[in-house]
Amino acid sequence: MARILITSALPYINGVKHLGNLAGSMLPADVFARFKRAEGHEVLYICATDEHGTPAELAAAAAGQDVLTYCQEQHRIQHDIGRAFGLSWDWFGRSSSPQNHELTQHLANVLEDNGLIEERVDHMVYSVDDRRFLPDRYVEGTCPHCGFRPARGDQCDNCGRLLDPTDLIEPYSTVSGSTNIEVRETRHLYLLQTKLEEKLRKWLDSKTDFPSLARAIANKHLDEGLIDRGITRDLAWGIPVTRNGLPRPGFEDKVFYVWFDAPIEYIAATREWADAGEGRDWRSWWRTDEGASDVRYVQVMGKDNVAFHTVSFPATILGSQEPWKLVDMLKAFNWLNWYGGKFSTSSKRGVFMDAALELLPPDPWRWYLTANAPEGSDTAFTWEQFQSAVNRDLADVFGNFVNRILKFTESKFEGHVPAGGEAGEIETRLYAAVDEKLAALTASLDAMEMRKAAQELRGLWVLGNEYLQEAAPWTAIKTDQDRAAVIVRTALNLVALFARVSAPFIPFTAEKVAEGIGDAYPGAWPSADARTELARLEAGRAVHAPEVLIRKIEDEQVAEWAARFGGAEG
Ligand code: 2FM
Ligand code: ZN
Repeated sequence: MARILITSALPYINGVKHLGNLAGSMLPADVFARFKRAEGHEVLYICATDEHGTPAELAAAAAGQDVLTYCQEQHRIQHDIGRAFGLSWDWFGRSSSPQNHELTQHLANVLEDNGLIEERVDHMVYSVDDRRFLPDRYVEGTCPHCGFRPARGDQCDNCGRLLDPTDLIEPYSTVSGSTNIEVRETRHLYLLQTKLEEKLRKWLDSKTDFPSLARAIANKHLDEGLIDRGITRDLAWGIPVTRNGLPRPGFEDKVFYVWFDAPIEYIAATREWADAGEGRDWRSWWRTDEGASDVRYVQVMGKDNVAFHTVSFPATILGSQEPWKLVDMLKAFNWLNWYGGKFSTSSKRGVFMDAALELLPPDPWRWYLTANAPEGSDTAFTWEQFQSAVNRDLADVFGNFVNRILKFTESKFEGHVPAGGEAGEIETRLYAAVDEKLAALTASLDAMEMRKAAQELRGLWVLGNEYLQEAAPWTAIKTDQDRAAVIVRTALNLVALFARVSAPFIPFTAEKVAEGIGDAYPGAWPSADARTELARLEAGRAVHAPEVLIRKIEDEQVAEWAARFGGAEG
């Protein structure tokens, strides 16, 4: 049994997330967490809202709320929607927590003690009309690298390059739209990443089992050359800048940069979790001198976050020279697009998590988003593909198999697992096929290859249908009761097996199936030995067909949703 720490990128507090956010971080992390728990490992899945920085301030202002109230409300909303989607976080924290304040200030302090922080006079974008500096997203303009407009002050959404607000061409204030903008002097703290380059490179070189997307992005950033990064901002909302526990002179109106404190919240949120319950120890998950060297730490995120997790955050950790756990496996995703373009929070383009659950239960979404995860490249959501994934995979292949055999058991064996008979040649072939698919499914999940895992799972469901088709219990029962009993018993065991292996993907449906078959939920991950796994249910056990497992999506629904949420033309 291993200890596995999982974090998914912390969603910004600024409103309910869209399906693209879900597909590229929280959902795959959840599938993995459920799988590893089923295997019997000790899993801690941590997430939180990312509450600081300009996204929070701007969204609060737009909602006409003070930022504290806004964050409190939005945290609750995101928490509840995540839970409704079945996200099995062990803790969903807040980056504005006292724990994160303390740890962020502590790390900045030790970094400075280690000679890695420097106060510098900076030239920053200042809005004369707004009478304030305009950090990060408070300013937009044209990207100096690709010409995209509007690029945000911190990052270009088009080419993905990290930007400095002063890089922007023809900048304007997002507070007022004013172009009356100057560059003024202000003091900021810089983390001297250049001094850490060698350490970082050595560490990254050791991460040979990072999947290719994460490795490629990480190396690109290192090869472009590290720069020292400003870790404070001229903002009111955030973690105050201190030195040795006291306000830092000259920094009273400044806070730490959101990207400095956000990843630290992975650790601080674990401490929030520990503080909230008896007998929980956060240090054994994070301090390598207190047990965390045995922990396998997995991070999941969209590709725009990779540089922060392979360079910036490790720079904080390595620079501290304290024994913090570093990531072992970093799984990155490309974009899930909305038809040809991007999901957009500001222009409400695409489906958001709250709206999705008004249309359908979570499992159809979870299945589609996992089976079509944007792994190898960007992928596009379309209603037609969604409909087909739900109707063909879930309803026709999975739901149909489960219902068919359970209904048959109800009508021909009074709803009990039948006794009698011996497995024959068809079953032997089935065992071999299930063995193979089960091994492939387990291996794909282990490697966090989500699309492949979903494909293998679907392949298992197909085996169930093929088995019923070939063995034909409805024919056997007319002449050979024992033979029919073997087939039905084997198929019911397949149902039980499917409930267990489908649970990470479609937990709500899997629970109904487990209930129908009289199994505990969630069951343990099956061994690689199908012969044993398919002889598990004792004869005589009562089983019943669950209520409608999967409702098919009608063409009219697709038409209605496409009209409501936009589709190809959107
Ligand atoms: O890109 C984002 O949505 C960020 N809020 C992710 C932060 S991840 C972690 F470092 F906090
Ligand atoms: Zn650009």
